[in-house]
Amino acid sequence: MTIDAHPIFAALKACPIVPVLTLYDENHAASLAAALWDAGITTAEITLRTPQALPSIGAMKAAAPELCVGAGTILSVDDLNAALEAGSDFIVTPAVSSKLLPALKAVSVPVFPGVATPSEALELYDHGFECVKFFPAESNGGVPALKSMASPLPKIKFMPTGGINGDSAPHYLALPNVIAVGGSWMVDQQAVNAQNWASVKATALRARESLQP
Ligand code: 3PG
Repeated sequence: MTIDAHPIFAALKACPIVPVLTLYDENHAASLAAALWDAGITTAEITLRTPQALPSIGAMKAAAPELCVGAGTILSVDDLNAALEAGSDFIVTPAVSSKLLPALKAVSVPVFPGVATPSEALELYDHGFECVKFFPAESNGGVPALKSMASPLPKIKFMPTGGINGDSAPHYLALPNVIAVGGSWMVDQQAVNAQNWASVKATALRARESLQP
């Protein structure tokens, strides 16, 4: 997938923070999507870690049609097929296996495959992936690691995820090789559980606005 060839890249330019969401109740999905969109969040990654994930993807897209809703924690070809069938706008993986790679290459929506090292990033770039997920970002060296990769790997863009928070996000986003950051800090899980959508929206809005210079 060439960077900029899909609407998600415009969405990430408009708001470069990607909420990584694990949903426990699909009845929360529509209100959560609306709250995020109202807060100016343009994308969301739903992790395939609960049975509610797949139905939630469709419910979120129906409630906020302009929100780009992707699937994360894709570990197998079966996960991938289920996520695509659910209507995922993009695919995120924490890592890539030799079984998963050919299936990911055949997908027509954007894929952000997970890498932890420069070698993995170059290997995936050679397979056509210009933008990869750097995971787990903080424990793999965080901002200094990505900064060190910018010159030797100038064509590869990263979406770091894992351990990032509102304080560190701007430092990642200031790097030339980072197109967006992912994480869970901008969504208040307790407010989601309590279905306090005004509070969910306020937390997401604060996270987005804190990125403004
Ligand atoms: C995940 O896979 O759970 C994501 O990387 C989110 O990580 P975070 O909760 O540390 O932001």
